[in-house]
Amino acid sequence: MSPLRVTRTLPEDATDAALRADVLNGLTATPKTLPPKWFYDARGSELFEEITELPEYYPTRAEREILTARSGEIADASGARTLVELGSGSSEKTRLLIDALTALEVYVPVDVSESALTQAGRALVAERPGLTVHALIADFTGQLALPETPGPRLLAFLGGTVGNLLPAERAVFLARIRRLLAPGDALLLGTDLVKDEGVLVRAYDDAAGVTAEFNKNVLAVVDRELDADFDPDAFDHVALWDPEQEWIEMRLRSRVAQTVKVPALDLAVDFAAGEELRTEVSAKFRRDGVSAELAGAGLELTHWWTDSEGRFALSLSVAR
Ligand SMILES: C[S@@+](CC[C@H](N)C(=O)[O-])C[C@H]1O[C@@H](n2cnc3c(N)ncnc32)[C@H](O)[C@@H]1O
Repeated sequence: MSPLRVTRTLPEDATDAALRADVLNGLTATPKTLPPKWFYDARGSELFEEITELPEYYPTRAEREILTARSGEIADASGARTLVELGSGSSEKTRLLIDALTALEVYVPVDVSESALTQAGRALVAERPGLTVHALIADFTGQLALPETPGPRLLAFLGGTVGNLLPAERAVFLARIRRLLAPGDALLLGTDLVKDEGVLVRAYDDAAGVTAEFNKNVLAVVDRELDADFDPDAFDHVALWDPEQEWIEMRLRSRVAQTVKVPALDLAVDFAAGEELRTEVSAKFRRDGVSAELAGAGLELTHWWTDSEGRFALSLSVAR
């Protein structure tokens, strides 16, 4: 195997068809929604990297702190020869794991963002000459066809991205993950924890407006890909804490009554003044809930680590 291989598991037109279906379903639903995976074109991936550096956005720093302290233990517990990472983005924090996993032969980053995958993959093969990188352009919410690689496997899902799935979607997702694991394989899951509302809202509504730009990027993607005429300036970024569901919601609020045309779908979408379009849910977790969700999928939680301020958790679980 050459050190960097990039595989698109879906044909290009499948991505196009998926975007069309999501935009048609989401913009004709009440309330209107769009799935968060469409944030991540090249610009969206760049903006997410900027978010990770913001003073208000603690999850990346908290998770990095845990990985810095615990990667050795994770490596001892898993003994992984293959590391699969879902929603890998820049793979920046993953380097801590890669360095600790002394038996590691293959890294399989999986992401919808081709630009993030190829940039991270090229950098990694240059930095770690012994490592084979097999990048997969794929949607982790679908059936994943992972390459044949040596076990044991460690499957990492970092950044709290699992919180972008709704509870019913998480149950389906975790059951699928369980089926990808053989006895002796493990799941390393990053989950952001329930905390003070002000801290949470500021993390999704920063003073510099980077998260607002990231949120509005989904409109730019729909404009470019489907010839739509969304004016991002006609929408306000909104971040709200829902204390019942224990999740943050990002929304885009229409400043005025307006009609947006999406010619590729032969669609005209009316927005009332103040009407909101939900673009992301980011669930926050408690240990009992994570453990129960894992158990429901046939995974047994064996380790639970938090950062020194108890803001974020990494858990390791194994197939039962
Ligand atoms: C919140 S970012 C986290 C990135 C990185 N793991 C971290 O911890 O900083 C989410 C990542 O998942 C990717 N992503 C989002 N939805 C996805 C999907 N349905 N399938 C595959 N990748 C997805 C995005 O492109 C992005 O790189």
